[in-house]
Amino acid sequence: MKAQELLKLASQARNRAYAPYSKFQVGAALLTENGEVFSGCNVENASYGLSICAERTAVFKALSEGVKSFSAIAISAPRGGSPCGACRQVLNEFHPSIPIYLGDENGMLICATSLQDLLPHAFGPENLS
Ligand code: THU
Repeated sequence: MKAQELLKLASQARNRAYAPYSKFQVGAALLTENGEVFSGCNVENASYGLSICAERTAVFKALSEGVKSFSAIAISAPRGGSPCGACRQVLNEFHPSIPIYLGDENGMLICATSLQDLLPHAFGPENLS
C-alpha cells in the first residue's frame, strides 16, 4: 500500500477523534505485514490524563487482535504533527525502524521519516535481556 493511501485512511480515522478538550484531532493508520490496516484516533477524557493518542489506539487495537508485525504507520494531524514520545516508545517495542508518514488534516504527505530517526538510541526489549 502506498503512503498516500495509508494517509487517506489516517485522515478518515481523524474524523472519528474524540477531542472536545484540545480540539486537536489526530488519526493514525497502521499497516500490518499481511496488508491489513488498523486505524486509530485520539480519545480524550474529562480526566485529561486518561486521554490516549491516535497512534497508540491503532497499535493496541492491532495487538489486542493478535497482530504485532507492522510495516508502516501514517498519521494525520493539523499541519502534520509528529508522534509524541510515548507513542514513539510504544512503536519501538514492535518495529524500531518503522516507516512513518506524517500528513496534514486532509491526508497530504508532509514528511516521510522513520522511527529510527525520531527515536534514536531507544530503550527497548533487548535492554532487559
Ligand atoms: N495526540 C495524538 O493523538 N498523537 C500524538 O502523537 C500527539 C498528541 C493527541 C493527544 C491529545 O488528545 C491531543 O492530541 C492534544 O495533545
